[in-house]
Amino acid sequence: MYLPGHPKYTLYHMVSLTNKRILLGVTGGIAAYKSADVVRRLRDAGAEVRVVMTRAAAEFITPLTMQAVSGHPAHRHLLDAQAESGMGHIELARWADAVLVAPASANFIAKLAQGLADDLLSTLCLASGAALAVAPAMNRQMWDNPATQANLATLQKNGVRIFGPGSGAQACGETGAGRMIDPLELVTLTAAMFETGELDGLDVLVTAGPTWEPIDPVRVITNRSSGKMGYAVAKAAMEAGARVTLISGPTALAPPARVECLRVMTAQEMFDAVQARIAAANIFIGAAAVADYRPAQAAAGKIKKTADTLQLNLVRNPDILASVAARTPAPFVVGFAAETDDLERNAVAKLQAKHADLVAANLVGRPGSGFECDDNRLMLVEADGTVELPLLSKERAARELIHHIAVRYHAKNPAENPRLAHRQ
Ligand code: C5P
Repeated sequence: MYLPGHPKYTLYHMVSLTNKRILLGVTGGIAAYKSADVVRRLRDAGAEVRVVMTRAAAEFITPLTMQAVSGHPAHRHLLDAQAESGMGHIELARWADAVLVAPASANFIAKLAQGLADDLLSTLCLASGAALAVAPAMNRQMWDNPATQANLATLQKNGVRIFGPGSGAQACGETGAGRMIDPLELVTLTAAMFETGELDGLDVLVTAGPTWEPIDPVRVITNRSSGKMGYAVAKAAMEAGARVTLISGPTALAPPARVECLRVMTAQEMFDAVQARIAAANIFIGAAAVADYRPAQAAAGKIKKTADTLQLNLVRNPDILASVAARTPAPFVVGFAAETDDLERNAVAKLQAKHADLVAANLVGRPGSGFECDDNRLMLVEADGTVELPLLSKERAARELIHHIAVRYHAKNPAENPRLAHRQ
């Protein structure tokens, strides 16, 4: 821990990996003794960490140490029936938001470059769609060897990030390039993997959560939206470089850092807050589960249970998304569709009815995806086709959605940033 005044204090305290799931791969090299510190630093920055060790790594640092610092047993074997019945290797690959291999030995880098999958870690790296980074650590001769350099060039071409190495005195007594970089720097670089810059300079307005429509001073009509998806979307947009305003109905969630959060209660309040902010927005993402109806008149006092039946007279709330899409000029408009069946057909209908650019649809009302849980399976529906994302954490689904939006936004507005317009 760095105290105020230390040169690394600011750096350390700016880094956030809150809610990020980092899979740390440890391979066999003397730098593996530093991996325990990497785990500590990642967790200090807010990440949840799972450790996967190669057989050789366990010769340098014990799985027990890695379990103690990460809070979870270290995963080690590919064909271990017991481990597979807990969190199996495909589940683990899906679980990760990012995979960091630190230290990465010359052997592991070679395996990765070839796409081998002969142990748990190499298999995970192949099976995971998450961002992948390696922190090489090896003797300087091994580092300089043309085979290693060719393998690194392959990794780089394949989009793998290479963190380091540093240079200096080595465990083998030599001096040169090949030292694993400092754990704190690794954490900073890992956090930077999430900062894509795809929405640099753009204003994004996000609605999230349910609305509360008062029946009387103590009762409301609401729905089961937790706000998690909308908050994750706001955070992902911020990490992509946007200035983000989050207009949130009542939720139990803390607003993401560096996002301006306005709290509202009713659909009408959300509508008013959106109208006040929409002119500046380049992109509008309506992730709120806005109540379609509200009681025509909220009772002034608590309604007593005197009668056997009670009738509420409901009136329509304004449609926030449709009102934003009807503006000229309109921002890039993204709606959500929570459906219990006929997902794609309903989403296409919504896209057309609301004149949105994109509808992110998901099934609700079944366990494991949608309302109140941490995972979601999104279908991205646009006029020219549909993309289905796999079951992902809401954080990761939000990042995929933001990437997709960024690509579409820049394709639609090429003059703004010609460099990003060609990104796919
Ligand atoms: O057709 P439906 O209302 O279910 O569409 C859902 C989408 O519309 C969501 O993106 C939601 O945020 C938005 N919506 C809105 N205002 C409403 C109702 C829904 O912005 N009154």
